[in-house]
Amino acid sequence: MSILSTTHLTKQYGQEPNIVKALDNVSISIEQGEFAAIIGTSGSGKSTLLNMLGGLDRPTSGSVRVDKFELGKLKDEDLTVFRRQRIGFIFQNYNLVPILNVYENIVMPIQLDGKKPDQKFIKDCSAAGAGKEAFAYAQHTFRRPAAAGSHCEGINQQTSHYPC
Ligand SMILES: Nc1ncnc2c1ncn2[C@@H]1O[C@H](COP(=O)(O)OP(=O)(O)OP(=O)(O)O)[C@@H](O)[C@H]1O
Ligand SMILES: [Mg+2]
Repeated sequence: MSILSTTHLTKQYGQEPNIVKALDNVSISIEQGEFAAIIGTSGSGKSTLLNMLGGLDRPTSGSVRVDKFELGKLKDEDLTVFRRQRIGFIFQNYNLVPILNVYENIVMPIQLDGKKPDQKFIKDCSAAGAGKEAFAYAQHTFRRPAAAGSHCEGINQQTSHYPC
């Protein structure tokens, strides 16, 4: 079953005669459970495509569907809720909130949504086990991006550290 698709997606920046066609008639479909990577040279439109897929920007023409949501039909407020509840984004420049620590950065979207973080899940993640690598990655990404993923030891007590 397709969980995400685009139809004739186009994104242009600028005005005539200086238009940049970042996406030109892109139609893709990704199945539920599929792991997909978008690769291409610098300036080929990867970030532009991800911005459209994540509802961060609107296309010039064409459509994006994620699950049952046709993103072009959502009002700005509904798009904000959609992003908060459905999309996980790690930005090229991180965009972390520097006054919040690792834990606070992770749970902020949940709290903005008026919900309480699942403390047991977080505890399980930060303890040894299946979630350890994910938390190690978050911790390294937040504190030392260049070292992300290189070491996983000693992260269990470090969720109170700050991004910089
Ligand atoms: N806000 C913008 N205004 C004008 N042109 C833009 C804007 N954002 C992107 N572009 C242009 O659109 C094209 C695609 O840019 P994009 O950032 O999507 O590429 P990319 O594949 O993510 O590149 P990189 O690998 O360097 O991150 C480039 O020519 C870029 O200069
Ligand atoms: Mg990019």
